[in-house]
Amino acid sequence: MNEADSLANPTRNAERTTRNALELDGVTRSFGGLQAVCDVTLRVPQRERRAIIGPNGAGKTTLFRLISGEMSVTSGRIKLFGEDITRLPAHRRVGRGLGRTYQVTNVFPHLTVEDNMTLAAIGLSKTKFQPLFPVPRRGAQRDHVEQVLVQVGLQHRAREQVAHLSHGEQRQLELALALVGQTRVLLLDEPAAGLSSAERARMADLVRSLPPQLTLVIIEHDMDLVMNLVDRVSCLHNGRIIAEETPAAIRQNQMVQEIYLGVR
Ligand SMILES: Nc1ncnc2c1ncn2[C@@H]1O[C@H](COP(=O)(O)OP(=O)(O)OP(=O)(O)O)[C@@H](O)[C@H]1O
Ligand SMILES: [Mg+2]
Repeated sequence: MNEADSLANPTRNAERTTRNALELDGVTRSFGGLQAVCDVTLRVPQRERRAIIGPNGAGKTTLFRLISGEMSVTSGRIKLFGEDITRLPAHRRVGRGLGRTYQVTNVFPHLTVEDNMTLAAIGLSKTKFQPLFPVPRRGAQRDHVEQVLVQVGLQHRAREQVAHLSHGEQRQLELALALVGQTRVLLLDEPAAGLSSAERARMADLVRSLPPQLTLVIIEHDMDLVMNLVDRVSCLHNGRIIAEETPAAIRQNQMVQEIYLGVR
């Protein structure tokens, strides 16, 4: 279909723009008698920015673990760009464009920012890495690492040991590590947790400046922070989605207000 056809055919256009990046159907995860995630059905269209909010213990991180494949579902189905990935191991989901923030504890603190990024890129490309030799750099990989470091504002720290980064910079590095693959859907679990207000604002700017074609799902407690970042908000409570609305509507939602005022 050429561009003129596409403009003349709004229905076809709408179909194209509403393709789902992520689809969850009846996803449940039990821990013994506890249903941490319970019958969650969720659609995140491609390019959408979605926040998941909810009180402590609501099941938000567990939901991310199920999507990323770190943990298996008790029941339900998960699709990534229409492909059923419910039983796919985590690394194969990464290979299909699913990125999630790594914990900083997963990085090598005495290597530089750049070397950590290169190792992550090598890990994704499945090239063998020899631990006793210097971290190899290849043209395209090096360019990509540099580009991502610019994207997250860490290029001036590329040669610094990770151990010397500030807390805020370490969170920026987490974001960079999640972007180093060909990430199409990015899951961010509280990227601004533990940051000062200036660092939080910086992180919000960074998230806002991510490429528009990226689909983003972000867990965040601070409603003020997510309000200006996302298109829609899903509220999780006791493992269930209890509301899914625009940020403005979610602020007015009485049930959501009660959960937040009651719990916090
Ligand atoms: N591996 C596990 N084994 C047993 N119970 C677990 C496990 N992981 C999570 N839970 C329980 O599942 C529930 C949901 O936890 P989860 O970490 O997903 O919540 P959360 O919404 O991310 O909370 P927070 O806002 O505090 O990060 C909690 O009651 C938690 O104790
Ligand atoms: Mg959590």
